[in-house]
Amino acid sequence: MAADAAAESTSSVWKDPGLVKQYLLQARKGLPLAQIQLDVMMRVVAGAKNASELGEQPVRNFLDLGCGDGILAATVLDRYPQARGTLVDFSMPMIQAAVRNLQAFSKSLHISSVDYSDPAWFDIISAHAPFDVVVSGFSIHHQPDPVKSQIYLDIFDLLEPGGVFVNVEHVSSATPYIEGLYDDYFIDSLWASQLTGSEAQTRDQVAMDYRKREDKKANLLAPVELQCDWLRRIGFEDVDCYFKVFELAVFGGRRPQPRGEDED
Ligand SMILES: C[S@@+](CC[C@H](N)C(=O)[O-])C[C@H]1O[C@@H](n2cnc3c(N)ncnc32)[C@H](O)[C@@H]1O
Repeated sequence: MAADAAAESTSSVWKDPGLVKQYLLQARKGLPLAQIQLDVMMRVVAGAKNASELGEQPVRNFLDLGCGDGILAATVLDRYPQARGTLVDFSMPMIQAAVRNLQAFSKSLHISSVDYSDPAWFDIISAHAPFDVVVSGFSIHHQPDPVKSQIYLDIFDLLEPGGVFVNVEHVSSATPYIEGLYDDYFIDSLWASQLTGSEAQTRDQVAMDYRKREDKKANLLAPVELQCDWLRRIGFEDVDCYFKVFELAVFGGRRPQPRGEDED
């Protein structure tokens, strides 16, 4: 696995080893309906079209943006073990976790320490493009809206025609009341996911930790409908929110193939 030099980042919250540990051991494990989100992601991924001579292999080369410990990449590789992957993150503790978790695939992966809010990211990652699949999990929502839509445009340009983008993402609630329902739902899921025994926290303790998590302060959430509109305007097709429960959404689209090349 090769690594690029890290660019200066705009947000440092995910570089804190304590937050990374808390996220990987608690928040990610207690995330409501996480397996369904991955299943929906993989159904969209399976529809990627490319010029592959393998025919049955829609994923030859993928990008995981804001890879964390590599959970999305691992899901793609579990199904398509021959795929090559580029994983991008700017947090050393996360990159170290991804390297550990994906050791078995080390020869076909490139893990890049890059800040994708820095426009230079595009040229760095272009060297590994085009991708037939781009996935991202709970990462882009830390960017202001103009940067989010610029990243979606960059992803469009990095995709092969026929390739797909799937964002498993934290999006905004329509009203504060609905945000309250989401918070309660997440807290219940975190509470239920704990190991039982003397270490187990009460629901109130879980709720307190949830509300004061450092990464919450770095959230810049946008409605999924708005983000799907940006994707359509950029030129993606088959754009939809494929799955959503409160603030947890799976959405994306496909870069069109030139006319006449997309027929089976
Ligand atoms: C909530 S974690 C999600 C990790 C993983 N994708 C998952 O689904 O569990 C967000 C990840 O995005 C990364 N990230 C956030 N902003 C980033 C940026 N500007 N450039 C690179 N990585 C970023 C963080 O370091 C962190 O690993």
